[in-house]
Amino acid sequence: MKKHGHAIVLIGFMGAGKSSVGRTLARMTGRRRFDTDEMVATRFGLTISQIFEKRGEERFRDAESEALEELSGEADAIIVTGGGIVMRQANTARLRELGTVIFLSADEETLFQRISRRPTRPLLQTTDPRATLKELLRTRLPLYRAAADVEVDTSGLTHDEVARKVLERIDEDERTRVEPEG
Ligand code: S3P
Repeated sequence: MKKHGHAIVLIGFMGAGKSSVGRTLARMTGRRRFDTDEMVATRFGLTISQIFEKRGEERFRDAESEALEELSGEADAIIVTGGGIVMRQANTARLRELGTVIFLSADEETLFQRISRRPTRPLLQTTDPRATLKELLRTRLPLYRAAADVEVDTSGLTHDEVARKVLERIDEDERTRVEPEG
């Protein structure tokens, strides 16, 4: 697929560190940062949990896709996404047009530990959050991998270390990328 932008696009599961690494990358590179969760929350004037509760997941997903559309002019930004963004094929196509898509991965145990520190995610408010996490991971892992240009394993790394790895991998990816014609 032809790329149009040079944005750095972060995808991955809840707890992968997308928001923190996005901030670190913005600091390191001086680029502007956009976070689709923040854009949606601002638009509704509600937290993500409140949006799920009052408007429902479908309305959240529509607003998430609309936020991505608004980012079309942001070719050089850092773009942070919510963990479910890859569930819509059109979103994935859009992300790939915006720039290099980085999948921040981590093993299940690491994700669970990180998520448990801030237990606000509406999708994990279930009787058995660990089982829910496992199931969501099983269905989403192939989607993240299919959407990404580069995967960076964040397990055991600080945000600064992950950010540096992301920048190194983008350099490599750009050096070796063969763009299709057209
Ligand atoms: C979601 C992840 C959340 C947020 C919403 C749904 C998901 O973002 O968009 O709660 O479906 O995985 P984070 O990945 O930043 O937690």
